[in-house]
Amino acid sequence: MNMFAGINGFEFASRDEIEAVQLKRMKWSIRHAYDNVPFYKNLFDENGVHPDDLHTIADLAKFPFTVKKDLRDNYPFGLFAVPMEKLSRIHASSGTTGKPTVVGYTAQDIDVWAEVVARCIRAAGGRAGDMVHVAYGYGLFTGGLCAHYGAERAGCTVVPASGGATEAQINLIMDFKPRIIMVTPSYMLSLADSFEKMGIDPRTTSLEIAIHGAEPWTEEMRKEIERRFDLKAVDIYGLSEVMGPGVGSEFVETQDGLTIWEDLFYPEIINPETGELVPDGEEGELVFTSLCKEAFPIIRYRTRDLTKLLPGGLSKMRRIARIFGRSDDMMIIRGVNVFPTQIEEIICRDERLTPHYFCEVRRPKVMDELTVVVEAKPEFSDDHARSHIAGELKGHIKNLCGVSTKVDVREPGGVPRSSGKAQRVFDFRNLAGK
Ligand code: DLL
Repeated sequence: MNMFAGINGFEFASRDEIEAVQLKRMKWSIRHAYDNVPFYKNLFDENGVHPDDLHTIADLAKFPFTVKKDLRDNYPFGLFAVPMEKLSRIHASSGTTGKPTVVGYTAQDIDVWAEVVARCIRAAGGRAGDMVHVAYGYGLFTGGLCAHYGAERAGCTVVPASGGATEAQINLIMDFKPRIIMVTPSYMLSLADSFEKMGIDPRTTSLEIAIHGAEPWTEEMRKEIERRFDLKAVDIYGLSEVMGPGVGSEFVETQDGLTIWEDLFYPEIINPETGELVPDGEEGELVFTSLCKEAFPIIRYRTRDLTKLLPGGLSKMRRIARIFGRSDDMMIIRGVNVFPTQIEEIICRDERLTPHYFCEVRRPKVMDELTVVVEAKPEFSDDHARSHIAGELKGHIKNLCGVSTKVDVREPGGVPRSSGKAQRVFDFRNLAGK
């Protein structure tokens, strides 16, 4: 099916047009998966459903979920729906456990993807002729290459900087004067620190727009980035299994959640415990069905990302609220659920701390122990100030999250910087006894 025609500009279609396209493409995608991927044929057959059972969009709920384990079990190419020679590209995301998750794209998939990321860049306020500095990692990670193709498709000039080599990045930004940067929010903050170390006020650069994603970040973090760089920071969301970056993004005018490009990726929210659909507006786990992918169709994929669906804003396509966490990142501390984003909010509100942090979870005996590791700004780095801040922070975390924690306030530079996705949680509990 030729998916490519008519994508550009469709972000402003009416709700009726969107739903008509969704149903047509959903029928195609379910049928494509069933006919070409033995895993889906077996899965649907075992669950007593058939592509012909899909008459309306609501019928999607009859179909079973796909989970991360299914991808691992079919490693590396078992879920591809086209012969290998039809593939243009392969990406993979390294999991915390064992084998990476492998995904594939046909030439048409790459085209659609570029178009969708171009949409995101336009929504973020980018326009043809802008220079875009891409500091997402290039390689098996989808971030770099995809941002690259999308920026080219939007008519921009791309600087493929990739992640790392921070001083070199800063020189490039100063010399080339890009208007847009695409980078993880945590690495953006590392860049801010390095600008300052090099004696350059980040507010004086040419950057006007930052497009941030690939990891959870909070409204407080956005304010911090916007303040330090004097620019607009917008959210972009995606995951390799569903495509990569560009599944949804924010409009710079409103900065009020991510518009899901739901003519291409159909979103649902479920209760993660029961698997039941929950109504729009209620929080739960995000599930996606690809509507257009040739090489790697994915049906009702459980992302483990937690958010809620909201009505359309500038586009009639629905939005999601900022992802507040992944079920994998949720720390259960003595029975209380705590997300790193809750801790981040508290840290970013404290003027005496830098926004760099991580959490360590241990179980020295029978009780879970959470240590929040943060970093003081130079003006507050003496021992007395740091222990005072630690005491206060403990109180704030207890009030907001309901758990007692240890707080380790380190001297400036004491928290390692990320050059890509920041790891916020180190859980040592499962290592105990091994
Ligand atoms: O991180 C794709 C990406 C690259 C998105 C660059 C945006 C920008 P994966 O490596 O497969 O793909 O990781 C996907 O990252 O399930 C979320 O948990 C998290 N994630 C991605 N974007 C956001 C975001 C890329 N804007 C996983 N907010 C997803 C919160 C995000 N979490």
